[in-house]
Amino acid sequence: MKHMAKVDVLLGAQWGDEGKGKVVDTITPRYKVVARFQGGPNAGHTLIIDGKKHVLHTIPSGVFRPGIVNLVGNGVVIDPVIFMREVDALKAIGIDVKENLRIGRRAHLILPNHRTLDAASEADKGKGKIGSTLKGIGPTYMDKTGRNGLRVGDLERSDLAERYDTLKRKHERLLTLYESTGVQTTNEHEWMDAVKRLRELPLVDSEHFIDETLRAGHDVLAEGAQGTLLDIDFGTYPFVTSSNTISAGACTGLGVAPSRIGRVIGIFKAYCTRVGSGPFPTELDNDLGENIRQAGGEFGSTTGRPRRCGWLDIPALRYAVMINGITELAMTKADVLSGMAEVSLCTHYKVNGRMTDRMPYDICTDIEPIFESMVGWKDRSSIDGRLSAFIERVEQAVGVPITMVSLGPGREQMVLRETAAVH
Ligand code: IMP
Repeated sequence: MKHMAKVDVLLGAQWGDEGKGKVVDTITPRYKVVARFQGGPNAGHTLIIDGKKHVLHTIPSGVFRPGIVNLVGNGVVIDPVIFMREVDALKAIGIDVKENLRIGRRAHLILPNHRTLDAASEADKGKGKIGSTLKGIGPTYMDKTGRNGLRVGDLERSDLAERYDTLKRKHERLLTLYESTGVQTTNEHEWMDAVKRLRELPLVDSEHFIDETLRAGHDVLAEGAQGTLLDIDFGTYPFVTSSNTISAGACTGLGVAPSRIGRVIGIFKAYCTRVGSGPFPTELDNDLGENIRQAGGEFGSTTGRPRRCGWLDIPALRYAVMINGITELAMTKADVLSGMAEVSLCTHYKVNGRMTDRMPYDICTDIEPIFESMVGWKDRSSIDGRLSAFIERVEQAVGVPITMVSLGPGREQMVLRETAAVH
């Protein structure tokens, strides 16, 4: 029988920064196309190749593998200046993006004023600020759903300048509502130059491109950005990003029917981190948290901000498994916890005096995490008996096999667990 090609989805099962870029790079050789479906340059996917660090913000993580086509789908928001900088950095290391990159015409553009608006809106929120990366993500998605946005496909239209001016005037009116933050945004000339270069890259209709790829019998990997708990609908609202980071986002962000989704691979760290504001039940706001931050190099790859660190949160991970339909998990950064006498994981929450293993509606209320401790592991480079026990405990708690375990940033530091089983 003919192979039914599918779109497999790989996404973050926590608050982002789970190490998705590395896992994508590991499994990419199985695919013909790697596609981003949401978010924008708020993301920072780090890959270490031949000992050299590369950070991608908008371009999919398959770009380092020859023969793979990388699609920026319609659900992504693109800052042309950041995008072209990324293209130039790839060119400098010999990667020809004209060959292996495609950009969806329906993807929306981040304008210089979107960043100004992002900064103004955050400043206006005062203590309630989201902790946004200030890349203009929220205001761009607002213009998309408000039906005011500029799309990549508009770059091919003759009335582009008029459309740009109309949106710019709207932004200027909006900005009068806010106090000036003095934040410098992208220079308009730089933006215009970047847009001219962007137009020269291969633009496609992502829905047709994916359909043709699948019809030709090739599987596609959809690469998520941020993480499940930053999803606009199911995350810790309002401390979330402005897109659907969950598996359903791959359908709308690429133009793929749900029946064509295959495996859903969830990535999680052996502990949790969060950057920016918002609830974080298992946070370790103490020396232990600081030790994990230092050992794990937990500083934002986009903003450089220190990430908040805490123990693994099982109720949150189970929620991610449920909402995404995760079929298998990859655990990253297990090496970071090695050498600790004891590691903990949160199995339940106590909310208003009652025990639950569910993610509550209002995660912003006081949640007391209930922890279970396990003996720590020593080995950094392989899965010893204690790390095995930890992995099996997580599998048993979430009901999904952990098929990959990452023990360091390099391509070679990934252990595939063929025998992963759920009890
Ligand atoms: P925004 O999407 O830049 O507006 O940020 C909204 C929230 O999501 C903030 O708390 C950010 O720190 C967080 N966030 C956005 N992108 C990422 C990411 O790629 N990794 C981790 N957190 C992110």
